[in-house]
Amino acid sequence: MEPSLETARLILRRPREEDLDGWAALMADEAAAKFIGGPLTRSAAWRAMATMAGSWSLKGFGMFSVIEKATGQWIGRVGPWQPEGWPGPEVGWALLSSAWGKGYARESAQAAIGWTFDALDWTEVIHTIDPNNVPSQRLAMALGAVNVGPTQLPPPLENLPVEMWRQSREQWMSRLPA
Ligand SMILES: CC(C)(COP(=O)(O)OP(=O)(O)OC[C@H]1O[C@@H](n2cnc3c(N)ncnc32)[C@H](O)[C@@H]1OP(=O)(O)O)[C@@H](O)C(=O)NCCC(=O)NCCS
Repeated sequence: MEPSLETARLILRRPREEDLDGWAALMADEAAAKFIGGPLTRSAAWRAMATMAGSWSLKGFGMFSVIEKATGQWIGRVGPWQPEGWPGPEVGWALLSSAWGKGYARESAQAAIGWTFDALDWTEVIHTIDPNNVPSQRLAMALGAVNVGPTQLPPPLENLPVEMWRQSREQWMSRLPA
């Protein structure tokens, strides 16, 4: 069965080709793309989306497409991701700027992190974040992660300044409501 998660306001499901308009808008937006590799053309956004879809095929997980229930619109991609050479099992996030400031990133990341512990049996979750990406740091902190210092992504990303935020499964579970 295809994994699909539902929260109060969102559906998280596997990426589909019909998500390209959303991916292209996300990656064309300079503010949104700044810390995720910089702006891309629509064609390059398709390749990035295909990489994420490929992660689902190869590893059985990847970031989910996040759909706003009220409108049926694609608003971003959030979820697990561990490419070859990555410093750990990551849950990442990026939303269209029109969806910022509504708690959607937190709501979707909470569901995705829970899924990595329940369904993937991960023992920890990391987030690799640029030291200047304050909104992403605030989100990581709100989710309970702690900044454990500088880390390195694999080539050709090795010169990007990134810090590792992390929490263990036990830390996550200890904060869940009984
Ligand atoms: C990082 C990113 C996902 C954070 O998105 P966000 O919308 O700020 O995060 P949240 O979902 O936690 O929302 C928090 C804000 O929503 C507000 N909010 C409104 N309604 C809310 C609700 N029902 N529940 C929770 N928060 C709510 C909060 O008060 C908070 O506002 P504030 O930042 O003014 O204090 C977003 O900035 C983004 O997509 N950036 C571009 C991509 C990127 O850099 N990704 C990270 C790479 S490491």
